[in-house]
Amino acid sequence: MRENRTSGTVWGVSGNRHSYHDGGETACSLLIEEFSGLLIVKQGRISQTALKVAIALVTLSVKDDWAQRLPPGLVEFSERLLVASGSPGYGPRMMRVSKQPWMLRVYQIQDLLMPGQFEGFGHRKIFMQQQVEAAIKQGARQVLVVGAGFDTLCLRLAPQNSDVQFFEVDHPATSVAKARGVTLEGQPANMIQIAADLGEQALSKVLSEDGRWQFSLPSVLLAEGLFQYLTDDEVRGLLRDAAACTAPGSRFAFTHAIPGERRMLSILTRLIAEPWKSTVRSKDLPEYVEGTGWTMISDVDTESAHGVERYAVAERA
Ligand SMILES: C[S@@+](CC[C@H](N)C(=O)[O-])C[C@H]1O[C@@H](n2cnc3c(N)ncnc32)[C@H](O)[C@@H]1O
Repeated sequence: MRENRTSGTVWGVSGNRHSYHDGGETACSLLIEEFSGLLIVKQGRISQTALKVAIALVTLSVKDDWAQRLPPGLVEFSERLLVASGSPGYGPRMMRVSKQPWMLRVYQIQDLLMPGQFEGFGHRKIFMQQQVEAAIKQGARQVLVVGAGFDTLCLRLAPQNSDVQFFEVDHPATSVAKARGVTLEGQPANMIQIAADLGEQALSKVLSEDGRWQFSLPSVLLAEGLFQYLTDDEVRGLLRDAAACTAPGSRFAFTHAIPGERRMLSILTRLIAEPWKSTVRSKDLPEYVEGTGWTMISDVDTESAHGVERYAVAERA
């Protein structure tokens, strides 16, 4: 994976301000910021994409029966981590505003451009948790979330699985901001946050330098909402590198964007920031991962409820 030297950004995603202030924003400006946010990870700044996923989940919890469908504790942890991050605009008032039913309309507008993506955030959290729980049942002793953002899975599952070691790796700016909330929650003894720029250092090097990851243990890795911001070569590089530090039989659950006719989205993302760098059809994944050390074990994902992404699981050969 390489840094985009021209814009000084990581994984080729350019920076921009965010402006989720505590109320007083119009739906339109929120939508524009959402687009900026979805495409932004600037070196030295908290990942806007990570913040936006977490706040979207808070709003999703007031839609239909999503409060019951989302894993227990996810929304409450997300709110507290966001507030503790100190990210401008993500204060307690924003949490209250995000749960106002009118906020759903903002996401309805977003869904015109990325159909299904709002609920897709919820589906993918459920999917990832199911994969981790299944892998643990089958013997996985380490869980690693790559590009964890403000994801709450490790915080929630670590206390229930004391014989499993949970790891998160994220860019230092985001990792440090999240650590503030994790400390306030009381960091589980079996949860480790590693701050590293994977654009600068290979995952295997990061893990071996940290020293706590055991290369020989059966493990489950997650990359959620991440691959679309990498080029195809970078995705394959990450998979190869992940294979180099995991035992045979380990799993890698990930989401990926699918190619499609999203003319409006494409125009907007080109105007505001950089477009996604990779997309792949679910049915093409076996060929896509060939030679990386992973074999696809999940079925072809044809679920349109997953929005502009699809979900997949590979096994370390
Ligand atoms: C779209 S967010 C997804 C967050 C989380 N996986 C979720 O779905 O809630 C992408 C994440 O990748 C991380 N990331 C981007 N570039 C990175 C880099 N060079 N090194 C480490 N992490 C990076 C960002 O900090 C951010 O947390």
